[in-house]
Amino acid sequence: MDKDINIKVRVWRQHGPKEKGRFETYSLEKVSQSASILEMLDILNEKLVNEDKEPVAYDHDCREGICGMCSLYINGHPHGPDTAITTCQLHMRNFNDGDTITIEPWRSAGFPVIRDLMVDRTAFDKIIQAGGYVTVNTGGTPDANAIPIAKEKADASMDAASCIGCGACVAACKNGSAMLFVSAKVSQFALLPQGRVEAKKRAKSMLAKMDELGFGNCTNTRQCEMECPKSVSIINIARLNREFLKAKGAD
Ligand code: SF4
Ligand code: FES
Repeated sequence: MDKDINIKVRVWRQHGPKEKGRFETYSLEKVSQSASILEMLDILNEKLVNEDKEPVAYDHDCREGICGMCSLYINGHPHGPDTAITTCQLHMRNFNDGDTITIEPWRSAGFPVIRDLMVDRTAFDKIIQAGGYVTVNTGGTPDANAIPIAKEKADASMDAASCIGCGACVAACKNGSAMLFVSAKVSQFALLPQGRVEAKKRAKSMLAKMDELGFGNCTNTRQCEMECPKSVSIINIARLNREFLKAKGAD
């Protein structure tokens, strides 16, 4: 049964992108284990505001695991120590009375810190703009089943499309690679007939943008797959590599 617990929260504080950051530790009493970690941060911020102190800046939006905004590194893991969930789905019942919880922003050259726990993930938007869409005229909405697609392909495409663009894969990777993200965005289209037309071009353009923006490459350590809240598989990276090789062959 959930209890009220006393905890310490060690939070990264940084006034701006160019400022030096530091950890600050705060004590919170009687936090319900039914609260989410974001609700715990709300309680902390209320306390800080009441004490005339600056609240902690952090990103969030849907609070139900679908928007990918809640990008926090908690006790050494992107989205916290639990698996296959986002930060907003992490509850205080994962922690015990007397625990110290360390919360940091994503650490990656591709995601510079804006303030405290907020990072700039515009780089992902730029990668999508480089090719993560379908531009060919696909006509009006076809009747259901007018274009037959094998179930395995439709399932694999849907699995890739579950990527919410949170950036945990980059934060988890020792190379700061965005390959899992890019591979999911390439695969969701490459597996479907409508997306095949531009598949090679898409793989090439998105990878070129990823390199240009300073993300590293993949060395198959699989940390991205382990920390991804949507369990996106590195099978997608293999598919991306094949699409890229085909694109190079077509040059
Ligand atoms: S692949 Fe997973 S970890 Fe990476 S951005 Fe998508 S959902 Fe987040
Ligand atoms: S706040 Fe939207 S996924 Fe967490």
